[in-house]
Amino acid sequence: MAMVCLSDFEAYAKKYLPKIAWDFFAAGADDCSTRDENILAYSRIRFRPRMLRDVSMMDIRTKLLGTEISFPVGIAPTGFHQLAWPDGEKSTARAAEAMNTCYIASTYSTCTLEEISAAAPSGLRWFQLYIHRNRAVSQQLVQRAEALGFQGLVLTADLPYTGKRRDDVRNGFRLPPHMKLKNLEGAFEVCKMSLLDPSVTWNDIYWLRSLTHLPIIIKGILTKEDAELAVRHGVQGIIVSNHGGRQLDGGPATIDALVEVAEAVQGRVEVYLDGGIRKGSDVLKALALGAKCVFIGRPALWGLAYKGEEGLQEVLRILQDEFRLSMALAG
Ligand code: FNR
Repeated sequence: MAMVCLSDFEAYAKKYLPKIAWDFFAAGADDCSTRDENILAYSRIRFRPRMLRDVSMMDIRTKLLGTEISFPVGIAPTGFHQLAWPDGEKSTARAAEAMNTCYIASTYSTCTLEEISAAAPSGLRWFQLYIHRNRAVSQQLVQRAEALGFQGLVLTADLPYTGKRRDDVRNGFRLPPHMKLKNLEGAFEVCKMSLLDPSVTWNDIYWLRSLTHLPIIIKGILTKEDAELAVRHGVQGIIVSNHGGRQLDGGPATIDALVEVAEAVQGRVEVYLDGGIRKGSDVLKALALGAKCVFIGRPALWGLAYKGEEGLQEVLRILQDEFRLSMALAG
């Protein structure tokens, strides 16, 4: 089967992954209206293409907080990569390194941070944090990530509790016994996500700041009010995200929320986006509306499910080629 676009990887993953894993990756909250809106919203946005602008040479590189990446698409944090491919997050890290882009490793990885950094020692890696009730566990994770050369700390702000994903409830989703949340081993019994701290507030940014020199990027912002608070609390970056529609159903598509966030921020910190990126032209639309870079969640998992790191590299390469072509055709 020729893999031409990201939907081909989606179809492959749906066909070959165990149903319980496919359902977990695909899940949105409640009616999945926000998950689906993330994608539909792109089709309502139209370009105003310009002609005769010499597009024979194009530079698609960009910088994330000063570090160059080959094109403005990175890998969003998602949990449990071993559900997609046996080498799990090690393969993800290798693919990101090979494509010279950024990989945000999840707190809920099935490989340790040590394994991830050893797999791709020169890759740009950020660490995504969920704050746990046991603050010592979170503190230790942040400091481990910094010591291992992770270059950014991504605080996910939209998960005080896990959204209601109906298929996961129906399937009784849990990790197979041979997979572990390796970064939390010993910290508490595996898969007890109720141990996340729902009392986190903006003041905890100051607490994080006291633990690490890493730049802090806040993920899950959807309004100008929260964007302003994020800037005032001294974060270095904002990821406009609704967690792929897995948390509050009924919120806006991220590409729609991006406009008010970018307008509020006025370039004071870097603004990124994730959610619904499936084509190179989606990337171009997000950049045109104010994002410095975008991140992919589910498409990375489909690439892994197809052929591990090679499959993920193929997904990234297709997005890169499509992005370059869209840029040229839009002038
Ligand atoms: C996620 N997401 C997520 N976010 C996060 O901060 N930490 C995490 O551990 C996870 N885990 C996770 C698992 C799965 C299976 C999915 C689909 C998503 C959210 C993720 O970072 C991102 O916001 C969305 O996936 C982006 O939307 P798309 O690209 O999947 O449409």
